[in-house]
Amino acid sequence: MAERILVTSALPYANGPLHIGHAVEYIQTDIYVRFLRSSGKDVVYFCADDTHGTPIELNAAKQGLKPEDFIARFQDEHQKDFQDLDVRFDYFHSTNSPENRQYAELIYGRLKEKGDIERKDVEQAYCETDRRFLPDRFIKGTCPNCKSVDQYGDVCEKCGKAYSPTDLIDPRCSLCSTPPVRKSSEHLFFKLSRHADFLQALLRKPGFIHPGLATQLQGFFEKGLADWDISRDGPYFGFAIPGETDKYFYVWLDAPIGYIATTEKWAKETGKAKSALDYWAKDSGARIVHFIGKDIVYFHALFWPAVLEVAGLHIPSEIKVHGHLTVNGEKMSKTRGTMVPVRDYLNQLDPSYLRYFYAANLGAGVEDLDLNLKDFRLRVNGELVNNVGNLANRALSLLAGPLGGKLAPGRSEGPGRALVESVLARIPEVREAFEKLEYRNAIRVITDIASAANAFVQTAAPWALVKKDAEAARADLSDAADVVYLLGALLAPVTPRLSEKLFAQLGAEPLTFQALEGAKYPLLDRSRPIGTPEPLLPRLEEDRVNAIIVTPEGTVAAAPAPEAKKAEGKEKKAEKKPAEPAPVTQASSGAGATEAAGSGEIEYADFAKVVLKSGRVLAAEKVAKADKLLKLTVDVGEASGPRTIVSGIAEAFAPESLVGRNVVVVANLKPRSLKGIESKGMLLTAGPGGKDLSLLDPGNVPPGSDVK
Ligand code: 2FM
Ligand code: ZN
Repeated sequence: MAERILVTSALPYANGPLHIGHAVEYIQTDIYVRFLRSSGKDVVYFCADDTHGTPIELNAAKQGLKPEDFIARFQDEHQKDFQDLDVRFDYFHSTNSPENRQYAELIYGRLKEKGDIERKDVEQAYCETDRRFLPDRFIKGTCPNCKSVDQYGDVCEKCGKAYSPTDLIDPRCSLCSTPPVRKSSEHLFFKLSRHADFLQALLRKPGFIHPGLATQLQGFFEKGLADWDISRDGPYFGFAIPGETDKYFYVWLDAPIGYIATTEKWAKETGKAKSALDYWAKDSGARIVHFIGKDIVYFHALFWPAVLEVAGLHIPSEIKVHGHLTVNGEKMSKTRGTMVPVRDYLNQLDPSYLRYFYAANLGAGVEDLDLNLKDFRLRVNGELVNNVGNLANRALSLLAGPLGGKLAPGRSEGPGRALVESVLARIPEVREAFEKLEYRNAIRVITDIASAANAFVQTAAPWALVKKDAEAARADLSDAADVVYLLGALLAPVTPRLSEKLFAQLGAEPLTFQALEGAKYPLLDRSRPIGTPEPLLPRLEEDRVNAIIVTPEGTVAAAPAPEAKKAEGKEKKAEKKPAEPAPVTQASSGAGATEAAGSGEIEYADFAKVVLKSGRVLAAEKVAKADKLLKLTVDVGEASGPRTIVSGIAEAFAPESLVGRNVVVVANLKPRSLKGIESKGMLLTAGPGGKDLSLLDPGNVPPGSDVK
């Protein structure tokens, strides 16, 4: 039987919206799962909301809600966010579910049976006003180290010193400001210390966890593993511990059990397994892979495997740990607006950009990943929009237009075939990179492949060849289309919606990593007509990217401060303008500005008003009852999509000869209506007119490039 793989991402707290830092993990895991599935593996991907604990209970109360209603809201929001980020779980459940209660009780019962639960008195801070024990985070006071006021009971946010709440100067209950008292209560402990040998052996097991982290975790053993307090006193939102009064399972006990509960729910709902035990029984033979952030390694690599081992269940096979997200080189911050909610991102931008950028920067290590907004824009525009998108557009628009959508049969030799064969040879590198979570290496190979194919198209110049030897152009473009097809397959784990678009435009079946095993030239079924080419993805515009960062006051924070902004504005203008012509002085011209204009000269400022952009013709057709006019669809690199331009060049050019050509567009011309068609812009031509016209060609630059 084929190996069955169960993959999880950490369960998000049902206590707030997901932000783009959370998205790193879900995107990383989703890419892995999509890659495995595309490779023909039997894989399931589970997640759930983590719903229990004091913060959720208190936040619900603050909003006048029952915790069940409070968490239901986030369950809904989270699911929508995942859906729109293209993160696809086989099931997304909740830790506040009957399945989770059942497994939490079962596991606890087994720990007890094995003598692994012990009772100990614990003295803790207690608020007599609120009549509750106070977790460290709910005590505030003055830092014993740097004397900053209003610091939490576990760590000072000013000086970073970690301490215990009893060290705080002038401690207060964060809910009511009463000084807490010390109070003792009996707690239940899991005897983690008994399992040190088992855990150390596990940490040494090749592939279980990154060796660097295994070494770090050794520190805990040197100090001696402490037993783990798994109970909390009421009031607490969680599962009551069977046989106890007013005691609840600590949220971190039942959170990972949520992985099992979700498997159970999925099994019941889909019938694809008898129960969770098909995966979680000790001898199930399944491979269980957890993706987590570096802050929760302790729970997943120590407590969780020990609990599972004692409960006689399957311990995780691999724990994949990633670093945290920084934005513009700094820790995410709510006040700076850089802790961007996933929904705010999605309101501005397609998820493919973020998925691509994260993949392009992710390796298998635990180093942090930086979302520098400028790099984000430049990298995505340069690699995804211009390189991959451009290739697809160049290859397919000529094939679909002048060549009638038909591909050529494969050739026995020549540079096109050599290109396809050389890029097919690189598939193992991409495969290995995805398998090892070295996504940035996969992206490097993918962009290399797109560049090689763009260089091939550039040399073959099918836009010129098509006029002399249409079949030769068709053959070259069909080989380029093969590479587009391959890129669709290789990018599918990262940007699935772009791959779907590419497959549709090629008129081809989705291509998988499994189908690519032993794949040979030609890749496409050359007897099928291609689909309709469309621009793959608009360029990322600076304002749209900046708009994802909104401070709590509602201002767009990424926009530089006024001074910086002015400077940047200047720089940009300077970039755009050609070298300033020598000023026309009163002495040399003998005339003021008005007179200069009268003599046919214009001021530089007048010229600077004209915005010239490079464009690419996507489609062209004759305008009915107008011999001189063509209606063109021109990609000018705008997020709003291509423009319609009506141009008086019909006598000089057959419409199909224009498709795929690069042109210069006057981009800020007021729209006007020609034969009832709204024309937005104008193409630049040279020559006397009529049949004698040539189109200004900006060369092979991406649509939207400045012409200056
Ligand atoms: O750190 C967190 O966000 C936790 N909610 C993760 C739980 S993962 C698993 F153990 F449930
Ligand atoms: Zn209080």
